[in-house]
Amino acid sequence: MENGGIFMLLFMLLGAASALSFYGDSISFMPPQRRSDGTFKVDFYHRENGRSSCQDQSGFTCDSGVCTSFDVSSVLQTDQDNTGQGRWCQSESHTTAIISTNETSFSVRSSDCCWVSNIDGQTTWTSYAELDLGIRSDTRALNSCPLTTTVSSLRVPRNCFSTFRLLTYDPDNDRVRCRLNADASAPSNIALDENQCSLSSTGEVGVGVHVFELMLEDFPTQNINLTYANGTSRTREAADTSPVCTVTLQFSMEILPPIPTCELGHVQPVFLSTTPSHGEVLHASVGQTFHLSVEAQARHSTIHDFQISGPQNMTKVFADGRYGVAAVTLSWTPQQRDLHRLVPVCFTAETNETQSEMRCVVVIVTQTPVVKGKATVECSPNKMTVTLDKASMPGIDVNYLKLSDPTCSLTSNDTHIMGSMSFSTCGTQLEDKGDVIAFKNEIHSFEVANEIITRRKRVKIGFSCQFPKSISISTYYNLRDSDYIFTESSFGSFGYSFEIFQDNNFTDKVEASAYPVQVHLLDKLYMGIQAKSELSNVTLFVESCKATPDDNPENALSYDLVKNGCIKDETFKVYSSDRTSFNFEVQAFKFTGNYDLVYITCSVILCKPGSPFSRCAQGCLQNPARRRKRELSMQTAGHYISQGPLQFVGPDVPSGAKDGNNVMKKGDTPAAVSPPHVSPDPRSSGGGWEVKAILNANISTLVLAGCFVASVVGMAVVLYYFSRKRNAEDSRALIVSEWEN
Ligand SMILES: *[C@@H]1O[C@H](CO)[C@@H](O)[C@H](O)[C@H]1NC(C)=O
Ligand SMILES: *[C@@H]1O[C@H](CO)[C@@H](O)[C@H](O)[C@H]1NC(C)=O
Ligand SMILES: *[C@@H]1O[C@H](CO)[C@@H](O)[C@H](O)[C@H]1NC(C)=O
Ligand SMILES: *[C@@H]1O[C@H](CO)[C@@H](O)[C@H](O)[C@H]1NC(C)=O
Ligand SMILES: *[C@@H]1O[C@H](CO)[C@@H](O)[C@H](O)[C@H]1NC(C)=O
Ligand SMILES: *[C@@H]1O[C@H](CO)[C@@H](O)[C@H](O)[C@H]1NC(C)=O
Ligand SMILES: *[C@@H]1O[C@H](CO)[C@@H](O)[C@H](O)[C@H]1NC(C)=O
Ligand SMILES: *[C@@H]1O[C@H](CO)[C@@H](O)[C@H](O)[C@H]1NC(C)=O
Repeated sequence: MENGGIFMLLFMLLGAASALSFYGDSISFMPPQRRSDGTFKVDFYHRENGRSSCQDQSGFTCDSGVCTSFDVSSVLQTDQDNTGQGRWCQSESHTTAIISTNETSFSVRSSDCCWVSNIDGQTTWTSYAELDLGIRSDTRALNSCPLTTTVSSLRVPRNCFSTFRLLTYDPDNDRVRCRLNADASAPSNIALDENQCSLSSTGEVGVGVHVFELMLEDFPTQNINLTYANGTSRTREAADTSPVCTVTLQFSMEILPPIPTCELGHVQPVFLSTTPSHGEVLHASVGQTFHLSVEAQARHSTIHDFQISGPQNMTKVFADGRYGVAAVTLSWTPQQRDLHRLVPVCFTAETNETQSEMRCVVVIVTQTPVVKGKATVECSPNKMTVTLDKASMPGIDVNYLKLSDPTCSLTSNDTHIMGSMSFSTCGTQLEDKGDVIAFKNEIHSFEVANEIITRRKRVKIGFSCQFPKSISISTYYNLRDSDYIFTESSFGSFGYSFEIFQDNNFTDKVEASAYPVQVHLLDKLYMGIQAKSELSNVTLFVESCKATPDDNPENALSYDLVKNGCIKDETFKVYSSDRTSFNFEVQAFKFTGNYDLVYITCSVILCKPGSPFSRCAQGCLQNPARRRKRELSMQTAGHYISQGPLQFVGPDVPSGAKDGNNVMKKGDTPAAVSPPHVSPDPRSSGGGWEVKAILNANISTLVLAGCFVASVVGMAVVLYYFSRKRNAEDSRALIVSEWEN
C-alpha cells in the first residue's frame, strides 16, 4: 500500500508539473512617461509561450513595492497551432503600472518552478525587467527599453543549426547587449554572441529541448546625463558597464534529429523576397489596418502554417500555392491606446519536419500615417540609382540627408534628389533574403550637432536592388541537366546549360571526363547555350559573351565576342536553332602575356512571347545607352553563365604572324577601359595586358583545356558568390545518394 501511495503522489506531481510547464516569455515596454503630478506611467506587454493552451499567464509583481496601481488587462491567446496537435501557442497581456517613487529605477518580476523538461536540467525561471527613471539628456525623455520576442516553439534540425538571430531593437538607438542570465549557462556547443544577439553552434548540439534565459541590456553610445524626480542627476559615461534598462527574454529550442539536407527551399522552408527582412522597422497608424505579408517555400515538403508572435487581435490568413509556396497575411488595427507602441512581430514557417529561420520586425504605431515619399530605384548589374521626388516630400532638404556612408554625397536639382552608388560603396549592404540577394542602402536625415531643436521631419528611405540567387541543381528534377538555375517571380524556375560540342552538329558534348581538352591551332570551338523553362514559348536572348582570363566576368581584362546583342568577333558564327538554343562557333584565341586560360561568360535573358519591347525582340543595339527599363513580367534579368577555362597549350604562333592588324592589345593600365587598339608587337607590352583576338583572318590559336568548370553565377552574385559546376555535380551526387539511402 505504501508503494501505491508513492506512485500516486509521483503521478500527481508529474501531472501538476506538466500543466504548469513554462516555455519562455518576453516583455516589451512602451516608452515610459513621467506625468505632471510626478508619477510615472509604465506600460508593458508580456508574451508567454505554451503548447496546447495559452489562456493563463504567470503573474508579475511590482518589485520595489512602489506601484500605486498595477492593472493587468485580460490575457488573450494570440497564436496557436491550428492542426490540433498542440505544438505551440502564445498569449499576450498588457499591464499598466502607475508608480510614485523617489527611487531612480523600477522593476517587475515573475518567477516559478517549472521550465518545460529540458536536457540542460534547468527548472526554475525568472522573468525580470528593470528600467531607469531618469530623463535622458539626449532624448529629453525617459529611456526606452530594448525590444525583442520569439515565437513560441523553436525547432531546428541538428545538422541545420548554424546561426540563430534574435531580434534586438532599441528605440533610442542605444547599443544592445544580450547576455545569459547570471545563473544560466548556454547548452554545450552553443555560443552566444552578446553584441549580435545571435546563437551559433560550435560543435554538435544535443538533440532535445534546450532552454535559454537571456538579458537584453541597452547602453547609450554617448555620454548622457540622467535627471531624476528628486532633482538629482547622474552622468552616464558611454563606457559604463551598467545598463539603463534590462529585460529578460526566455525561450526553449528543440534540436531535432538531422534531416537529409539543410538546403533552403528543399525541405527547409526559405522566406521569399516579398517577406520583410529581419529587423526591419515598419509603421502602422491608429485606426488603420496594418498588413504584413510573409511568403515561404519548401519544394519537397508542405508548409502547413506560420507561427506568429504578435499583438492581441492580430489576425492571420494562411494560403498555400504551387511549388511548395505558402503565404500568411497578418492584419492588425492599432487602437488609440497603442499610440507610440513599438510592437515586435516574429514569424516562422512550419512544416511537419522542420521550421524556417525566425524573422522579426518592429511595428511602430503613429497617430497619422507616415509620409510615403515617391522614390524610384534603378538597378543595373553593378550599380543602383535612387531618385526622390521632392514634391512628394514637402520640406525635404538635401543638406540634411545622407546615405548609409555619409562620405557619399547626394545630388539634387529643382525637382529631384538623386544618389548613385555601386554595390560595394557608400555603405551598401548585401543581404541574403532567401531566394534573392538584395543590395540595400538608405537615405536618412541627420541632426546637426549643437542644434537643440529639430524642426525638420525625420526621414528614412530604404532602398534596395534585388537579384535572384541561383539555386542548386538538386532541387529541380526537370531542370537537372542545367548548369545554372534561377528563379524569378514572374518566370518561375528556369535553367541554362552551357556546353562545348565536338562538332557543328551540336549533339555530342565534350564530356566532363575529357577535360582538360586540347584544342589545336586552326581549331574551331563549338559551344551551345540551351535554356529550359517551365513556361512555353519563351525565347532565349544572348546579350553578351565575353572572354576573360579568369572566372571573374567583371575582370577589366576582357574581350567581347558579343556585346549588346551584336556580334563583335569576325570569326563568331551563330547556327540557326530553336528559340531556346544558341549554338555558335568561334575560332580559338588566348590572351597574350602570362595568361594561359580563357573563360567565356555570356549574359542571357529569357523573354515571354508577344512582347515587341522585350530585349529579345530588340536584338542588336548599337547604342544601348537609352535602353528601356526592362518590363519585369515579360523578361528575366540578365544572368551570367560561364564556360571554361580553355587552356592554350599548343605551340605559340610564330612572331611573324602577329604583325599587322591581327593583334588587339590593351595598354599598360589594366584599370582603364578603352577600346582595344592595334599594336605591332604584343611582346612589347611588358606588364600590361592585351587581347590577342585573331591572329589571322583564318588562322587562330586556341587550346582548350583545364578542368572544365562552369561557374554558377547569378547576376548579383557576380561579386560575391562563385560556385563551380564541379561542386554542384558533387553535391548533386551526394544528395541523390542520400535520398536513395
Ligand atoms: C519624493 O521626495 C520629495 C522631496 O524629498 C517628497 O516631497 C516626496 O513626498 C517624495 N515622494 C515620494 C513618493 O516618496
Ligand atoms: C535622490 O534619489 C537618489 C536615489 O534614490 C538618492 O541617492 C539621492 O540622495 C536623492 N536625492 C535627494 C536630493 O533626495
Ligand atoms: C551632464 O551634466 C554635467 C554637469 O551638470 C555637464 O557638465 C555635462 O555637460 C552634462 N553632459 C551632457 C551630455 O549633457
Ligand atoms: C481584441 O478584440 C476584442 C473583441 O473584438 C476586444 O474586446 C478587445 O478590446 C481587443 N483587444 C485589443 C487589444 O485590441
Ligand atoms: C503532419 O503530421 C500530422 C500528424 O502526424 C499528420 O496528420 C499530417 O498529415 C502531417 N502533414 C503533412 C503535410 O505531412
Ligand atoms: C532632375 O533630375 C531628374 C533625375 O535625373 C530628372 O528626371 C529631372 O527632369 C530633373 N529636373 C530638372 C528640373 O532638371
Ligand atoms: C552531322 O550529323 C550528320 C547526320 O547525323 C552526319 O552525316 C555528319 O557527318 C555530322 N557532321 C559532323 C561534322 O560530324
Ligand atoms: C506557342 O507557340 C505555338 C506555335 O507557335 C502556338 O500554337 C501556341 O499557342 C503558343 N503558346 C503560347 C502559350 O503562347
